[in-house]
Amino acid sequence: DKVAPLRAALLAWFDACGRDLPWRAGEEGRRDPYRVWVAEVLLQQTQVSRGLGYYQRFLDAFPTVQVLAEAPLDAVLKAWEGCGYYARARHLHRAAGIVAAQGFPTSYPGWRALPGVGPYTAAAISSLAFGEGRAVNDGNVRRVFARLFAQPRPADAWVQAQADTLLDPARPGAWNEALMDLGATVCTPKAPRCAVCPVSAFCAAFARGQSTAYPAPKVR
Ligand code: ADE
Repeated sequence: DKVAPLRAALLAWFDACGRDLPWRAGEEGRRDPYRVWVAEVLLQQTQVSRGLGYYQRFLDAFPTVQVLAEAPLDAVLKAWEGCGYYARARHLHRAAGIVAAQGFPTSYPGWRALPGVGPYTAAAISSLAFGEGRAVNDGNVRRVFARLFAQPRPADAWVQAQADTLLDPARPGAWNEALMDLGATVCTPKAPRCAVCPVSAFCAAFARGQSTAYPAPKVR
């Protein structure tokens, strides 16, 4: 069974080399839900390197969910300038009103019920801020798993099933962030850095010398 050594290898790498990002302050699995929430919504449309400045600007303007809830929508949309998809800012503002009145949801279904919070965002927040065992599934995760298992066209349900199986139940938040960092910095789309990859020994695509063949490029 390779699941335990795979988890250990990726988490050891994350502990040593994981990125130091502003919403990662605090105890693992007990991050500030507001900061994680804002980061995840922002980063759905922006790379981390670009998103950092927007994130800081937004948090300076709206440091807490109460401040955000009480701010006029115009001010929120103004602070969102450059981040694209204003619908996300509108949803965030509307959801902040609900959270300011009712408190933060403490588990996945509660987050999922908020405007603008989809499966990815709910899994990220519930694992990073509440230590819940929810696996994130996004483009990075899909690519990493396509390569690990040499699947040219992984179906979404297959990716989710792998993500659920491999998720480390002892450290779900760290596991999710480790996959995000691996996908963003090592297991990149065009030029993956397999020589420094902590899980290349487990990777079927690497074993075939064909890392970039997975997932197969879209045919159109
Ligand atoms: N991209 C989206 N969410 C992220 C997170 N929490 N850490 C790193 N990269 C991310």
